[in-house]
Amino acid sequence: MARLELFTGLAISLILAASTASAAIIEHSLHVRIWPPLHIFLAGASGSSRNYSRSLFQVQNLTVRRLCHPRVITAVNGSLPGPTIRVSEGDTLVVHVFNKSPYNLTIHWHGIFQLLSAWADGPSSITQCPIPPGSSYTYRFTITGQEGTLWWHAHVSWLRASVYGALIIHPKKGHLGYPFPKPYKEVPLILGEWWNANVVDVEDQALALGVPPNISDAFTINGQPGDLYPCSRKHTYKLKVRPGKTYLLRMINAALNNQLFFKIADHKLKVVAVDASYTNPYVTDVIVLSPGQTADVLLTADQIPGSYYMAGRNYFNAENVPLPFDNTTTTGILLYKGTASLPGTTPKMPLLPAFNDTPTAHKFSSSLTSLVGAPHWIPVPAEVDEKMFMTISLGLSPCGGRATCQGPNGLRFSASMNNVSFQAPTGRSLLEAAFFGLKGFFTTDFPDTPPLAFDYTNRSLAQSPLGFVLKGTRVKKLKYNATVEIVLQNTAFIGVENHPMHLHGFNFHVLAQGFGNFNPANDRKKFNFVNPVIRNTIGVPVGGWAVIRFQANNPGVWMFHCHLDVHLPWGLATVFVVEDGPTPSSTLPPPPADLPKC
Ligand code: C2O
Repeated sequence: MARLELFTGLAISLILAASTASAAIIEHSLHVRIWPPLHIFLAGASGSSRNYSRSLFQVQNLTVRRLCHPRVITAVNGSLPGPTIRVSEGDTLVVHVFNKSPYNLTIHWHGIFQLLSAWADGPSSITQCPIPPGSSYTYRFTITGQEGTLWWHAHVSWLRASVYGALIIHPKKGHLGYPFPKPYKEVPLILGEWWNANVVDVEDQALALGVPPNISDAFTINGQPGDLYPCSRKHTYKLKVRPGKTYLLRMINAALNNQLFFKIADHKLKVVAVDASYTNPYVTDVIVLSPGQTADVLLTADQIPGSYYMAGRNYFNAENVPLPFDNTTTTGILLYKGTASLPGTTPKMPLLPAFNDTPTAHKFSSSLTSLVGAPHWIPVPAEVDEKMFMTISLGLSPCGGRATCQGPNGLRFSASMNNVSFQAPTGRSLLEAAFFGLKGFFTTDFPDTPPLAFDYTNRSLAQSPLGFVLKGTRVKKLKYNATVEIVLQNTAFIGVENHPMHLHGFNFHVLAQGFGNFNPANDRKKFNFVNPVIRNTIGVPVGGWAVIRFQANNPGVWMFHCHLDVHLPWGLATVFVVEDGPTPSSTLPPPPADLPKC
């Protein structure tokens, strides 16, 4: 099935297939639930201005042909990428997820604040137990105070390799539109990563042996690898453009383990938002996205009509890691309308940065600034209640159990924050444990600083025993509305690397970033308090640091983790538990009745 779209409506209007009308179940006055149609329907609230957008996600096996072979993947509504969800700011989104796949499943709405709806956030073991095969869960949340390009993805094992799609939030009707000229068309452009093997098996094998997993076989643009790969001429994304028109590319890096450079031959790109926060327009010829990040990019078809490659490939920055990496290039074709693609002519190819071109990556990410006064812009919180310094490290840990690990000295590759390697709880989600006051699932002693101060980025640390970490489910408790400042510091254990750190439930301001060890005396002077970029995922520079601030204005349990799926199960994560505030409107309601049980 092709992509399913969502619509919103003001009036009560309900699209029903006549034959399913008798199956309608009245849920309550505002909702009508229809079982079990595969189409999308819409319902508006009577007497209220709230719009409901409803969607049905059927998650199941799908056979697709890629790179010369048929492959079975897990997919939503039979498409790769899955359906694009389009809503307006202020809408309530209701998504019925039916897990007909053979795997445990959750869906995360990446970048959505989930104000008072933490139960719908989705990370497995954190805000919910997964939906078992044959079962369902309804995600229900209102999208307030944010607009732009976000996305949704599976948040359990490696399923997000094929379970992902765009979530586009338009400005509320009748409100300010975009803070840039209205584009002629909007186009989601999702970068992905493809394995010929079953990704769950790839992950399981790696975890069994305690070693890094096999690398991917391709990158993709909107699910298509492009014609530089074998048998992929038909699997090439094409964007037809009209000369002179401007297009809004809604770019998402949905890849599992790789940061990507992206260029279009001969064309300038103008970034106007990242992570659904408006930026000062930034003109560049290269986009750099970490897994989890998005960018809204204006593209004007202002070159000689013809065909041009758009191309993406790895920004591979890990030092000291003697591993192979996916060095392939994904392409799509930008085709000017009216220009027949002549047989035998190939599109013009852009010159891509070198794999390890950190200066280019750093220039891109450190040049972005927020657009002061744009819709939903907020100033930097001035007073800081909680100051934290967090190391983000690779490391080694005991193999565990009776397994035999093939990491150095028979140890297991791991990762940590402040030397704590995050271990997910079993039996209950952390949110249930926190909400119901259940004992024994976590401790609230995640440290504000690493156990030891040292020369964090000294490359001779690579083999140091300091990189030995212990597992734990240690969280950081925050008072409602507390302002948190975090210095994120990469370390050289095993090897330095750019880690894309993603915070659930909040956006943060990026006050500064740099290389080497953070030096408070010098580096605090560089903080941007005027227009720092606002995001939900920051690529902490390789062998460097970044400083972020956010206000914990949303009660719940919020994960903060590296968005490289190789590092997440290794423990590169922690959790904030934000307490309820003093009023009903700052108190997390109880869980929905259909919250899956472990
Ligand atoms: Cu996009 Cu915790 O994830």
